Amino acid sequence: MAVNFKLPEIYEGNGPVSLDAWENRRQEILDILRENVYGFSPKAPDKVTAQVVSEESVLANKAIQRSVNISFDTPGGVFTFPVVLTIPKHVEKPAVFLLINFSPNLPDKYYPQEEVVDAGYACARVYYQDITSDNNDMTNGLAGMYSAENRPDNGWGKISMWAFALSRVMDYLETLDEIDKEKVIVIGHSRLGKTALWTVAQDSRFAMACSNNAGCSGDALSRMNAQFDKAENINIIYNRFPFWFCKNYSKYIDNEEALPCDQHFLVGAIAPRPVAVGSADEDLWAYPASELECCRAASKIYERLGIHGLIYPEDAPLPELGSNLDGGNIAYHLRAGAHFLSRTDWNAYIRFADKKLK
Ligand code: GCU
Repeated sequence: MAVNFKLPEIYEGNGPVSLDAWENRRQEILDILRENVYGFSPKAPDKVTAQVVSEESVLANKAIQRSVNISFDTPGGVFTFPVVLTIPKHVEKPAVFLLINFSPNLPDKYYPQEEVVDAGYACARVYYQDITSDNNDMTNGLAGMYSAENRPDNGWGKISMWAFALSRVMDYLETLDEIDKEKVIVIGHSRLGKTALWTVAQDSRFAMACSNNAGCSGDALSRMNAQFDKAENINIIYNRFPFWFCKNYSKYIDNEEALPCDQHFLVGAIAPRPVAVGSADEDLWAYPASELECCRAASKIYERLGIHGLIYPEDAPLPELGSNLDGGNIAYHLRAGAHFLSRTDWNAYIRFADKKLK
Protein backbone atom coordinates (compact mmCIF):
# COMPACT_ATOMS: atom_id res chain seq x y z
CA MET A 1 0.00 0.00 0.00
CA ALA A 2 1.28 3.47 -0.85
CA VAL A 3 1.65 5.58 2.25
CA ASN A 4 1.39 9.34 2.11
CA PHE A 5 2.91 10.25 5.44
CA LYS A 6 6.46 10.32 6.63
CA LEU A 7 7.44 8.21 9.61
CA PRO A 8 10.27 9.07 11.99
CA GLU A 9 13.25 6.80 11.38
CA ILE A 10 13.79 3.99 13.85
CA TYR A 11 17.46 4.13 12.95
CA GLU A 12 19.03 6.74 10.65
CA GLY A 13 20.80 5.63 7.47
CA ASN A 14 20.62 2.39 5.52
CA GLY A 15 23.53 0.09 6.31
CA PRO A 16 23.90 -2.81 8.71
CA VAL A 17 23.51 -2.07 12.42
CA SER A 18 25.35 -3.92 15.18
CA LEU A 19 23.47 -5.26 18.17
CA ASP A 20 25.42 -2.94 20.47
CA ALA A 21 24.58 0.14 18.43
CA TRP A 22 20.97 -0.97 18.26
CA GLU A 23 20.80 -1.43 22.02
CA ASN A 24 21.85 2.23 22.49
CA ARG A 25 19.25 3.45 20.03
CA ARG A 26 16.63 1.12 21.50
CA GLN A 27 17.07 2.78 24.90
CA GLU A 28 16.55 6.19 23.23
CA ILE A 29 13.42 4.87 21.54
CA LEU A 30 12.04 3.58 24.84
CA ASP A 31 12.62 7.01 26.39
CA ILE A 32 10.84 8.71 23.48
CA LEU A 33 7.87 6.38 23.98
CA ARG A 34 7.94 7.00 27.74
CA GLU A 35 8.15 10.77 27.40
CA ASN A 36 5.42 11.10 24.79
CA VAL A 37 3.07 8.12 24.96
CA TYR A 38 3.05 5.77 27.96
CA GLY A 39 4.96 7.64 30.66
CA PHE A 40 7.98 6.77 32.79
CA SER A 41 7.59 3.99 35.36
CA PRO A 42 9.31 3.93 38.74
CA LYS A 43 12.40 1.84 39.12
CA ALA A 44 11.92 -1.86 39.71
CA PRO A 45 11.73 -2.97 43.35
CA ASP A 46 14.87 -4.56 44.79
CA LYS A 47 13.04 -7.68 45.81
CA VAL A 48 9.85 -9.52 44.88
CA THR A 49 8.44 -12.28 47.05
CA ALA A 50 5.99 -14.99 46.08
CA GLN A 51 3.59 -16.81 48.33
CA VAL A 52 1.93 -19.97 47.05
CA VAL A 53 -1.74 -19.81 47.99
CA SER A 54 -2.84 -23.12 46.50
CA GLU A 55 -1.67 -25.85 44.21
CA GLU A 56 -3.72 -28.55 42.52
CA SER A 57 -3.74 -30.99 39.64
CA VAL A 58 -5.94 -29.79 36.79
CA LEU A 59 -6.94 -30.69 33.23
CA ALA A 60 -7.32 -34.43 33.83
CA ASN A 61 -4.07 -34.48 35.74
CA LYS A 62 -2.11 -33.12 32.79
CA ALA A 63 -1.03 -29.98 34.59
CA ILE A 64 -0.34 -28.37 37.93
CA GLN A 65 -2.15 -25.17 38.67
CA ARG A 66 -0.60 -22.87 41.23
CA SER A 67 -2.06 -19.65 42.59
CA VAL A 68 0.61 -17.31 43.81
CA ASN A 69 0.57 -13.90 45.46
CA ILE A 70 3.37 -11.67 44.30
CA SER A 71 4.47 -8.88 46.65
CA PHE A 72 6.96 -6.05 46.64
CA ASP A 73 7.67 -2.82 48.47
CA THR A 74 6.39 0.49 47.13
CA PRO A 75 6.41 4.01 48.59
CA GLY A 76 2.84 3.35 49.80
CA GLY A 77 3.61 0.00 51.47
CA VAL A 78 3.63 -3.59 50.30
CA PHE A 79 1.69 -4.21 47.10
CA THR A 80 0.38 -7.72 46.39
CA PHE A 81 -1.35 -9.18 43.34
CA PRO A 82 -2.29 -12.71 42.28
CA VAL A 83 -1.02 -14.74 39.35
CA VAL A 84 -2.17 -18.21 38.35
CA LEU A 85 0.37 -20.50 36.78
CA THR A 86 -0.54 -23.69 34.93
CA ILE A 87 2.38 -25.99 34.14
CA PRO A 88 2.05 -29.09 31.95
CA LYS A 89 3.38 -32.21 33.67
CA HIS A 90 4.53 -33.94 30.50
CA VAL A 91 6.88 -31.21 29.24
CA GLU A 92 10.31 -30.56 30.65
CA LYS A 93 10.96 -26.87 31.24
CA PRO A 94 8.15 -25.53 29.06
CA ALA A 95 8.05 -22.09 27.52
CA VAL A 96 5.37 -19.89 29.06
CA PHE A 97 2.54 -17.79 27.66
CA LEU A 98 1.93 -14.96 30.12
CA LEU A 99 -1.57 -13.66 29.43
CA ILE A 100 -2.73 -10.34 30.76
CA ASN A 101 -6.47 -10.72 30.66
CA PHE A 102 -9.81 -8.97 31.08
CA SER A 103 -11.26 -11.56 33.40
CA PRO A 104 -10.06 -13.02 36.70
CA ASN A 105 -12.01 -16.24 36.23
CA LEU A 106 -12.04 -19.44 34.22
CA PRO A 107 -13.41 -20.49 31.85
CA ASP A 108 -12.74 -17.39 29.85
CA LYS A 109 -13.53 -16.71 26.21
CA TYR A 110 -10.02 -15.40 25.53
CA TYR A 111 -8.08 -18.12 27.31
CA PRO A 112 -8.03 -21.69 25.94
CA GLN A 113 -5.95 -22.98 28.82
CA GLU A 114 -6.16 -26.67 27.95
CA GLU A 115 -5.18 -26.14 24.32
CA VAL A 116 -2.18 -24.07 25.37
CA VAL A 117 -1.09 -26.78 27.81
CA ASP A 118 -1.65 -29.49 25.18
CA ALA A 119 0.56 -27.52 22.82
CA GLY A 120 3.34 -27.93 25.38
CA TYR A 121 3.30 -24.51 27.01
CA ALA A 122 2.86 -23.39 30.56
CA CYS A 123 0.60 -20.44 31.04
CA ALA A 124 0.49 -17.69 33.58
CA ARG A 125 -2.42 -15.32 33.81
CA VAL A 126 -2.87 -11.99 35.44
CA TYR A 127 -6.15 -10.13 35.73
CA TYR A 128 -5.28 -6.58 34.76
CA GLN A 129 -7.56 -4.83 37.25
CA ASP A 130 -5.84 -6.65 40.11
CA ILE A 131 -3.00 -4.26 39.30
CA THR A 132 -5.04 -1.08 39.06
CA SER A 133 -8.50 -0.18 37.82
CA ASP A 134 -9.16 0.56 34.17
CA ASN A 135 -10.43 4.10 34.71
CA ASN A 136 -9.40 7.58 35.77
CA ASP A 137 -9.00 6.64 39.44
CA MET A 138 -5.31 7.01 40.25
CA THR A 139 -5.76 6.15 43.93
CA ASN A 140 -6.22 2.37 43.80
CA GLY A 141 -3.80 -0.54 43.35
CA LEU A 142 -0.37 0.23 41.98
CA ALA A 143 -1.49 3.75 40.99
CA GLY A 144 -2.32 4.55 44.60
CA MET A 145 0.83 2.96 45.97
CA TYR A 146 2.95 5.30 43.85
CA SER A 147 0.67 8.36 44.25
CA ALA A 148 -0.01 8.57 40.53
CA GLU A 149 -2.65 11.23 41.18
CA ASN A 150 0.25 13.64 41.33
CA ARG A 151 2.10 12.21 38.37
CA PRO A 152 4.10 14.61 36.21
CA ASP A 153 3.21 15.11 32.53
CA ASN A 154 5.56 12.29 31.57
CA GLY A 155 4.55 10.06 34.49
CA TRP A 156 3.18 6.59 33.90
CA GLY A 157 -0.32 5.82 32.74
CA LYS A 158 -2.19 2.60 33.32
CA ILE A 159 -0.65 0.73 30.38
CA SER A 160 2.76 1.31 31.98
CA MET A 161 1.40 0.13 35.34
CA TRP A 162 0.07 -3.11 33.89
CA ALA A 163 3.41 -3.60 32.11
CA PHE A 164 5.31 -2.95 35.34
CA ALA A 165 3.35 -5.71 37.07
CA LEU A 166 4.11 -8.18 34.27
CA SER A 167 7.80 -7.52 34.83
CA ARG A 168 7.23 -8.42 38.49
CA VAL A 169 5.70 -11.71 37.30
CA MET A 170 8.91 -12.23 35.35
CA ASP A 171 10.89 -11.59 38.55
CA TYR A 172 8.99 -14.52 40.02
CA LEU A 173 9.17 -16.79 36.95
CA GLU A 174 12.94 -16.33 36.93
CA THR A 175 13.13 -18.09 40.27
CA LEU A 176 11.39 -21.27 39.04
CA ASP A 177 13.25 -24.34 37.82
CA GLU A 178 10.18 -25.92 36.26
CA ILE A 179 9.85 -23.51 33.37
CA ASP A 180 12.19 -22.08 30.75
CA LYS A 181 12.65 -18.48 31.84
CA GLU A 182 14.40 -17.69 28.54
CA LYS A 183 11.12 -18.42 26.76
CA VAL A 184 8.42 -16.31 28.32
CA ILE A 185 5.94 -14.83 25.83
CA VAL A 186 3.58 -12.00 26.78
CA ILE A 187 0.18 -12.06 25.10
CA GLY A 188 -2.69 -9.61 25.30
CA HIS A 189 -5.72 -8.43 23.37
CA SER A 190 -6.60 -4.88 22.43
CA ARG A 191 -5.65 -2.47 25.28
CA LEU A 192 -3.83 -5.44 26.74
CA GLY A 193 -2.13 -6.07 23.38
CA LYS A 194 -0.78 -2.54 23.65
CA THR A 195 0.34 -3.54 27.16
CA ALA A 196 1.98 -6.77 25.93
CA LEU A 197 4.06 -4.85 23.39
CA TRP A 198 5.09 -2.20 25.91
CA THR A 199 6.04 -4.84 28.47
CA VAL A 200 8.26 -6.81 26.11
CA ALA A 201 9.77 -3.68 24.55
CA GLN A 202 10.91 -2.44 27.97
CA ASP A 203 11.92 -5.73 29.57
CA SER A 204 14.36 -7.72 27.47
CA ARG A 205 14.04 -10.78 29.70
CA PHE A 206 10.86 -11.58 27.76
CA ALA A 207 11.37 -13.68 24.65
CA MET A 208 8.43 -12.62 22.50
CA ALA A 209 5.22 -10.57 22.37
CA CYS A 210 1.82 -11.36 20.86
CA SER A 211 -0.30 -8.30 20.19
CA ASN A 212 -3.86 -9.11 19.23
CA ASN A 213 -6.01 -6.41 17.60
CA ALA A 214 -4.13 -3.76 19.56
CA GLY A 215 -4.78 -0.98 17.05
CA CYS A 216 -4.41 2.69 17.93
CA SER A 217 -1.47 3.43 20.26
CA GLY A 218 -0.54 -0.25 20.06
CA ASP A 219 0.35 -1.96 16.80
CA ALA A 220 -1.23 0.49 14.30
CA LEU A 221 0.47 3.59 12.93
CA SER A 222 -1.01 6.74 14.43
CA ARG A 223 -0.28 8.74 11.29
CA MET A 224 -2.12 6.21 9.16
CA ASN A 225 -5.11 5.82 11.49
CA ALA A 226 -5.47 9.62 11.44
CA GLN A 227 -6.21 9.44 7.73
CA PHE A 228 -8.99 6.87 7.91
CA ASP A 229 -12.28 8.00 9.38
CA LYS A 230 -13.39 4.54 10.55
CA ALA A 231 -10.22 4.01 12.58
CA GLU A 232 -9.49 5.16 16.10
CA ASN A 233 -7.05 8.06 16.38
CA ILE A 234 -5.19 9.85 19.17
CA ASN A 235 -7.96 12.40 19.68
CA ILE A 236 -10.56 9.68 20.26
CA ILE A 237 -8.41 7.39 22.37
CA TYR A 238 -6.99 10.14 24.55
CA ASN A 239 -10.36 11.68 25.21
CA ARG A 240 -11.89 8.35 26.22
CA PHE A 241 -8.93 6.78 27.96
CA PRO A 242 -6.52 9.54 29.04
CA PHE A 243 -5.46 7.43 32.02
CA TRP A 244 -3.88 4.76 29.77
CA PHE A 245 -1.17 7.23 28.76
CA CYS A 246 1.03 9.98 30.10
CA LYS A 247 -0.41 13.47 29.97
CA ASN A 248 2.11 14.53 27.32
CA TYR A 249 0.29 12.29 24.83
CA SER A 250 -2.46 14.91 24.61
CA LYS A 251 -0.03 17.16 22.69
CA TYR A 252 -0.54 14.93 19.67
CA ILE A 253 -4.31 15.17 19.47
CA ASP A 254 -5.05 16.08 15.85
CA ASN A 255 -1.32 16.63 15.63
CA GLU A 256 0.16 13.21 14.82
CA GLU A 257 2.75 14.80 12.55
CA ALA A 258 4.45 16.29 15.60
CA LEU A 259 5.03 12.90 17.26
CA PRO A 260 8.76 12.12 17.46
CA CYS A 261 7.82 8.45 17.09
CA ASP A 262 5.06 6.29 15.73
CA GLN A 263 3.98 2.83 16.75
CA HIS A 264 6.66 1.14 14.62
CA PHE A 265 9.01 2.35 17.38
CA LEU A 266 7.07 0.21 19.84
CA VAL A 267 7.03 -2.95 17.71
CA GLY A 268 10.60 -2.29 16.53
CA ALA A 269 11.88 -1.85 20.10
CA ILE A 270 11.30 -5.59 20.54
CA ALA A 271 13.96 -6.41 17.90
CA PRO A 272 15.81 -8.70 17.54
CA ARG A 273 13.26 -10.76 19.48
CA PRO A 274 10.19 -12.12 17.69
CA VAL A 275 6.84 -10.38 17.81
CA ALA A 276 3.45 -11.43 16.44
CA VAL A 277 0.64 -9.10 15.45
CA GLY A 278 -2.88 -10.32 14.74
CA SER A 279 -5.62 -8.37 12.92
CA ALA A 280 -9.30 -9.14 12.34
CA ASP A 281 -10.77 -8.04 9.03
CA GLU A 282 -13.92 -6.48 10.53
CA ASP A 283 -11.92 -4.56 13.13
CA LEU A 284 -11.61 -1.30 11.21
CA TRP A 285 -11.41 0.55 14.53
CA ALA A 286 -7.98 -1.01 15.11
CA TYR A 287 -7.38 -0.85 11.32
CA PRO A 288 -5.71 -3.97 9.87
CA ALA A 289 -3.99 -2.13 6.99
CA SER A 290 -2.34 0.17 9.50
CA GLU A 291 -1.32 -2.78 11.68
CA LEU A 292 0.29 -4.40 8.64
CA GLU A 293 2.04 -1.15 7.75
CA CYS A 294 3.34 -0.83 11.31
CA CYS A 295 4.89 -4.31 11.06
CA ARG A 296 6.44 -3.36 7.75
CA ALA A 297 7.96 -0.18 9.17
CA ALA A 298 9.26 -2.03 12.23
CA SER A 299 10.77 -4.68 9.95
CA LYS A 300 13.42 -2.29 8.73
CA ILE A 301 15.38 -2.54 11.95
CA TYR A 302 15.30 -6.35 11.86
CA GLU A 303 16.63 -6.35 8.31
CA ARG A 304 19.43 -3.98 9.30
CA LEU A 305 20.31 -6.28 12.17
CA GLY A 306 20.73 -8.99 9.54
CA ILE A 307 17.56 -10.97 10.25
CA HIS A 308 14.15 -10.95 8.65
CA GLY A 309 11.32 -8.90 10.09
CA LEU A 310 8.02 -9.35 8.28
CA ILE A 311 8.39 -11.36 5.09
CA TYR A 312 5.88 -9.85 2.70
CA PRO A 313 6.31 -7.74 -0.44
CA GLU A 314 6.62 -3.98 0.19
CA ASP A 315 3.76 -2.97 -2.05
CA ALA A 316 1.36 -5.88 -1.53
CA PRO A 317 -2.10 -5.14 -0.11
CA LEU A 318 -3.52 -6.96 2.90
CA PRO A 319 -2.86 -10.71 2.71
CA GLU A 320 -5.65 -13.18 2.12
CA LEU A 321 -7.87 -13.96 5.06
CA GLY A 322 -6.48 -16.83 7.05
CA SER A 323 -2.87 -16.39 5.96
CA ASN A 324 -0.08 -16.42 8.51
CA LEU A 325 2.92 -14.35 7.42
CA ASP A 326 5.22 -15.93 9.94
CA GLY A 327 8.42 -16.73 8.07
CA GLY A 328 10.45 -13.92 9.69
CA ASN A 329 10.74 -12.48 13.17
CA ILE A 330 7.65 -10.32 12.84
CA ALA A 331 4.55 -12.43 12.24
CA TYR A 332 1.33 -10.94 10.96
CA HIS A 333 -1.97 -12.71 10.48
CA LEU A 334 -5.35 -11.55 9.29
CA ARG A 335 -8.34 -13.52 10.49
CA ALA A 336 -11.96 -13.23 9.47
CA GLY A 337 -14.35 -11.66 11.94
CA ALA A 338 -14.53 -9.06 14.64
CA HIS A 339 -12.44 -7.68 17.49
CA PHE A 340 -11.70 -10.73 19.70
CA LEU A 341 -8.87 -12.98 20.89
CA SER A 342 -10.07 -16.15 19.20
CA ARG A 343 -8.83 -19.73 18.95
CA THR A 344 -7.63 -18.88 15.44
CA ASP A 345 -5.44 -16.15 16.88
CA TRP A 346 -4.07 -18.39 19.63
CA ASN A 347 -3.25 -21.08 17.06
CA ALA A 348 -1.32 -18.53 15.01
CA TYR A 349 0.65 -17.42 18.09
CA ILE A 350 1.37 -20.98 19.21
CA ARG A 351 2.54 -21.90 15.72
CA PHE A 352 4.87 -18.88 15.64
CA ALA A 353 6.17 -19.60 19.14
CA ASP A 354 6.83 -23.21 18.07
CA LYS A 355 8.91 -21.92 15.18
CA LYS A 356 10.85 -19.30 17.11
CA LEU A 357 11.30 -20.82 20.55
CA LYS A 358 11.15 -24.60 20.27
C1 GCU B 1 -11.65 0.50 22.85
C2 GCU B 1 -10.46 1.37 22.52
C3 GCU B 1 -9.34 0.57 21.87
C4 GCU B 1 -9.02 -0.63 22.69
C5 GCU B 1 -10.28 -1.42 22.95
C6 GCU B 1 -10.11 -2.63 23.86
O1 GCU B 1 -12.26 0.10 21.67
O2 GCU B 1 -10.92 2.39 21.71
O3 GCU B 1 -8.18 1.36 21.72
O4 GCU B 1 -8.03 -1.40 22.05
O5 GCU B 1 -11.22 -0.60 23.59
O6 GCU B 1 -9.21 -2.67 24.67
O7 GCU B 1 -10.95 -3.52 23.78
